[in-house]
Amino acid sequence: MVSRNRPRRSVLAVPGSSRKMIDKAKSLPADEIFLDLEDATAPLAKEEARIRVSEALTEDGWGDQIKVVRVNDWTTEWTYRDVTEVVDRAGVHLDAILLPKVSDPSHVQALDLLLTQLEKANGLEVGCIGIEPQIENALGLTNIDAIATASPRVETLVFGPADFMAGINMRTLVVGEQPDGYDRGDAYHHILMTILIAARAHGLQAIDGPYLQIRDVDAFRRSAHRTAALGFDGKWVLHPSQIEAANDVFSPRQSDYDHAELVLDAYEFHTSTKGGARGAVMLGDEMIDEASRKMALVISAKGRAAGMVRTSSFTPPDAGR
Ligand code: GLV
Ligand code: MG
Repeated sequence: MVSRNRPRRSVLAVPGSSRKMIDKAKSLPADEIFLDLEDATAPLAKEEARIRVSEALTEDGWGDQIKVVRVNDWTTEWTYRDVTEVVDRAGVHLDAILLPKVSDPSHVQALDLLLTQLEKANGLEVGCIGIEPQIENALGLTNIDAIATASPRVETLVFGPADFMAGINMRTLVVGEQPDGYDRGDAYHHILMTILIAARAHGLQAIDGPYLQIRDVDAFRRSAHRTAALGFDGKWVLHPSQIEAANDVFSPRQSDYDHAELVLDAYEFHTSTKGGARGAVMLGDEMIDEASRKMALVISAKGRAAGMVRTSSFTPPDAGR
């Protein structure tokens, strides 16, 4: 599962029923692209979409995006054939399966077992295809720790706000915005934090869902900023115009990245024998210690994964001082 730790700042949803949109998506700079056999593909178009999606995965013209297929959920009659057809035809090109409406760990386990057979039958390394469970209902949120640990294939936990809002009767139709009449705080906070904490507890990525007003990129940015500030790793994008905004919002700011690298260098120097083997040291006006190093590591890892280059360097203080 080489995709486990790759950045997923922008996760582009592409309807599996649209050849044109799949072709366009291949060259877009989203970190992940998922071809959708679920809600963006009508029931009567699903069989054909399986073939189209599988063919598209095997074609040339892709960048180095993480390539994912969203199958239908286990309460439908489509899931097993979605998975079988796509992995048989294009498993070697697939990084992960996005599994919607996961409410119980058995959903992940069932997919894990099926993938193991398919990988063996197709001569693929067992475990090479990851699973991205979508948390889209109250039961899924209640069972989130069991879902997160149901299989070593799980790479991310993904929020599905549209289905979630419908499932809990939240009084809004505008996905990503606050319900009318809720004028204090953020109605999504509990759900978002529960997903984030479970992801961090189990070493997974936390991914925010879609913002549906696709023409309003500023509003998308605001929505993305909120979850990026909490610590989420990325967000779905439904339109090419949202990709750049997501990549930007979920990358560290240059000044934060530079500072994080500086903290790591300074801490390494001062804790070494040459630097005096100290534990808590000053970096300019700031006191840094082991906890500062841990915070800096997070920002540094995100910046490096996003290909950022530092614009300043650490100079050790003069020896003998
Ligand atoms: C996505 O699947 C959602 O329900 O928001
Ligand atoms: Mg959904």
